[in-house]
Order: sequence, then C-alpha cells, then structure tokens
Amino acid sequence: MHLPDYKEARTRDHRDYQRISYEVDSAVQNKYKGKTFFIKTYGCQMNEHDSENIEAFLSYLGFSKVDNYLKADLVWLNTCSIRENAHNKAFGMLGRLKHLKNEKKDLLIGLSGCMAQEVSVVETIMRDYPFVNFVVGTHNLHQLPSIIDKAIVENQQQIEVFSREGDLIEGLPVVRANSYKAYVNIIYGCDKFCTYCIVPYTRGRERSRAKEDILKEIDELIQDGYKEVTLLGQNVNAYGKDLYENYHLGDLLEEIALKNIPRIRFMTSHPWDFNDRMIEVIAKYPNIMPSVHLPVQSGSSRILKLMGRRYTRESYLELFHKIKDTIPGVSISTDIIVGFPGETEEDFQETLSLVHECQYDNAFTFIFSTREGTPACKLPDNVSLEEKEERLHRLNEVVNTYFLENNKKLEGQVLKVMVEGVSDKKDMYYGYSETNKLINFSSSQEVKPGDIIDVLITSAKTWSLDGKVE
Ligand code: SAH
Ligand code: SF4
Ligand code: F3S
Repeated sequence: MHLPDYKEARTRDHRDYQRISYEVDSAVQNKYKGKTFFIKTYGCQMNEHDSENIEAFLSYLGFSKVDNYLKADLVWLNTCSIRENAHNKAFGMLGRLKHLKNEKKDLLIGLSGCMAQEVSVVETIMRDYPFVNFVVGTHNLHQLPSIIDKAIVENQQQIEVFSREGDLIEGLPVVRANSYKAYVNIIYGCDKFCTYCIVPYTRGRERSRAKEDILKEIDELIQDGYKEVTLLGQNVNAYGKDLYENYHLGDLLEEIALKNIPRIRFMTSHPWDFNDRMIEVIAKYPNIMPSVHLPVQSGSSRILKLMGRRYTRESYLELFHKIKDTIPGVSISTDIIVGFPGETEEDFQETLSLVHECQYDNAFTFIFSTREGTPACKLPDNVSLEEKEERLHRLNEVVNTYFLENNKKLEGQVLKVMVEGVSDKKDMYYGYSETNKLINFSSSQEVKPGDIIDVLITSAKTWSLDGKVE
C-alpha cells in the first residue's frame, strides 16, 4: 500500500528521471476474459487521454467495454480534483455503486485520476468506502494491470498512490477514442503553483517528453490516417525547459507542422511562457490551427498577484494583442475565475472591462472553489456565495454577447470544417472549424468523420454556427 502525502507532492527538485519503455506483464494477458468494464472520465483532456490508456490496460487483461455501468463487472472512475463539483460527482457515483455492490457482490470498483492523489479523499475511501477495490494514482498508472490482478487474487483493497512523479514511461498501450483525431502528451505536471490550484500537487513536477518520442508517436498517427493531433500539457508552453538548452514549444510545433498532418492543436497555454517564436510559428504554418486558449483568470492585477499568476492585466493584454495582430484570423478563448478570496466589486469590474477589450471567442467561467492544501485556502474570504453567483451570472451575460458577435462576423463565409459525425438534429452533420467553432451543417453529399470540407456559414448562434455544403 502507498498513500499520498501533500508535503512530498509539493517538493520540486532537479533529480534526473529516466525514460523507460513500458513492459507488458504477459502473465495477466486475457486473464479476465469474458468480464466487462465501464469507465467514466471526470476531468480535462489529459484525464481523457489517461482513460484511453486505462481502456488499453483493461482490454489487455481481457475485459471488454460496455456503455452502461449497471451491466459492467468492473466500474472505473477516472476522477478530477479541480473544483468541488467534480469531487461531488465522483462521490455521488460511489454512493450509487455502494447500493449496486450490495446486490452484486462480485462487482469490482476502481478509482484513478487526480482525486486519488488527495490525502483526504484516500482517507475517506479507506474509512467510508471499503468496497472500492483499487485506487491508483496519476504517477503509477502503468501499474494498473498488476494492481487489479493483485486485488482480485488476494481479495483485498489495493491503494497504490505515489506522491511524487517517478520515471517517464514511454510506450503505454492506448485505445484511442477516435480514428481521425488524437491526443499526444508533450509535457506532464505543473510547476506554476497558482495559489488556488491543486494540479501541481496531483500531477507533479513539469516533465517534458523527449522530442524524438513525440515525433515518432505523431509519425505513427499519420501512418494510421489521423488528421488532427492535439498536443497536451497543463502548460504546453513550458515544453522543453526541463530537458533542452534551446528547444521549446515553437521549435516542436515547427517540426510537427513540416509533417503531413492537416491539423495541429495544443493546450493549455499559460501566458507566462508564451514567447514570440511560438507566435511566429503559429502564424507561419497553415496546419497549426489559429486557435489559442489563453486563460486570464482575472482582469485585476491585484487579484492576479494573489493568484500567483506571474503576469499583470497590462502584460496579459500586451500578449493578447500581439497574438491577435500577428496570427491572421486567430480565435482566442480563456478561463476566468470569479469570487477569488477578497475579490471586490472593483476587481470584478476590471475583469468585465478586460472581457470587453478582449471580446473572447469562447470562455470557461468558474466560481472559485477552495482546494484543500492550496495557499488560497488560507486567504480571508468575505464575499458571500450569493454575491459570487451573481458575479458569475453577470460575467456570463457579457462573454456570451461576444461569442455571438464574433460568430455573426462569420456568416456568409466559407470555413474549412473537420467532420466529427451526425448531429442530434436529423440530416445534419457537425464538425469544428480551424478556429475551433462548432458547426452544424447539411450536406447533399455523404461525408464521414475526419473529412475536411468547405462549409458555407448560413447563420450564427451563441455556441455554434449553422452551415451547408454547396
Ligand atoms: N493549466 C491551465 C489550467 C488548467 S485548470 C492554465 O493555467 O492555464 C482549468 C481551469 O480551471 C483554470 O484555468 C481555472 O480557471 C480553473 N480552476 C482551477 N482551479 C480552480 C479552483 N480552485 N476554483 C475554480 N476554478 C479553478
Ligand atoms: Fe493550475 Fe496554474 Fe498550473 Fe494551470 S498553471 S495547472 S492553473 S497551477
Ligand atoms: Fe482535473 Fe487533474 Fe485535469 S484536477 S483538470 S483531471 S489535471
């Protein structure tokens, strides 16, 4: 048994980590053939990509996937700690599973992801949820097959959570959710320690994958017919800093852009590490999508300082405008937190005025959620929840007007859309533009997922556009 420890999780040093190739344990291959699994993912794209590895591990053990947890022999929750509601959802599901396990004694239950790294969550599971069979941390996901096997063979709860990152394991098996677009991890962890955020504790130190490993994975995806790759990291802009003297995200993007892949995306970008070289490269190559997610969090320099964001309102705006002016047609989206401890109405007004200036194409807005173990936990907070909810509502009204306004400018234009599938509305397809806008469209010709086609935009809505293929 290994239990998480926050003190250790917070530690940063420069010890070397090894690149190790994943080795399968052939003794467990197909050992559980005939059994089924259901997996639920609660978190970000990285968490989704981890689920693609988990599916591959479970398939190797012989489990096959089902879409209804009531029909599964094994239910896996891949959890997220970012805000309280993500927590509540996972615990809500554990509550339902408790009842199910009363009727179905052989049901297996597993939990992984960022919640597994939280000391209080693991303590709660050990105390109140003894029926959970396995808990696996983010740093030792590769041990999943042996942990499952041990729990079943020994008929005992297994809690295996490493507090610190270990070696970087290459070649993990993966069952990708799509056959035309793929996630590719380029950097793990986060060293930014924004005062409100739990990720540096759950995902460890920033560790870049070697460029050769990334480029090889992309070459294989191209060979397999993939049309789009999304480079993933909690802060992709920090790519290479821990590994190379002089090779960063701009250089990696350029090398990938020179390959024969139609669409390259990347997320997320912390404004701190966004350099001119990156902007130049994105502007230069048509297969790097002109779509940048640039979380601002707040428009008040005072709050940004309390958040530990390392930029001011002014330096953010300077970067924002440089990106807008240099990359033709770029769309910029953001994340905003309202109700950070001590946020005054004046601070909030600064956020609103920044939104008026930036006129974002998309924005994810949140009420501050206290995360145990983070510095913001200890800050005095005298703003009521009611007031915070009201600010969120006012903010959403403003951001929404700009989504619609920006979308309206696209009416009558022909956009390149990558088809995703058939939309809920009958006879309509859907897909995403280069700037990551959701397009619902009709087409007299048959189109299939992964096709990139020209769509004439006929009308704009707040969160999507309608169009047709002529
Ligand atoms: N690494 C990314 C963000 C990843 S988390 C970045 O820094 O750009 C995604 C978003 O969740 C953050 O941008 C932030 O807006 C929000 N978030 C993180 N911690 C939060 C908390 N404690 N309460 C509310 N929102 C939070
Ligand atoms: Fe969290 Fe900040 Fe790291 Fe983003 S950059 S993951 S918000 S600590
Ligand atoms: Fe959630 Fe962990 Fe991602 S906290 S947002 S799953 S890195």
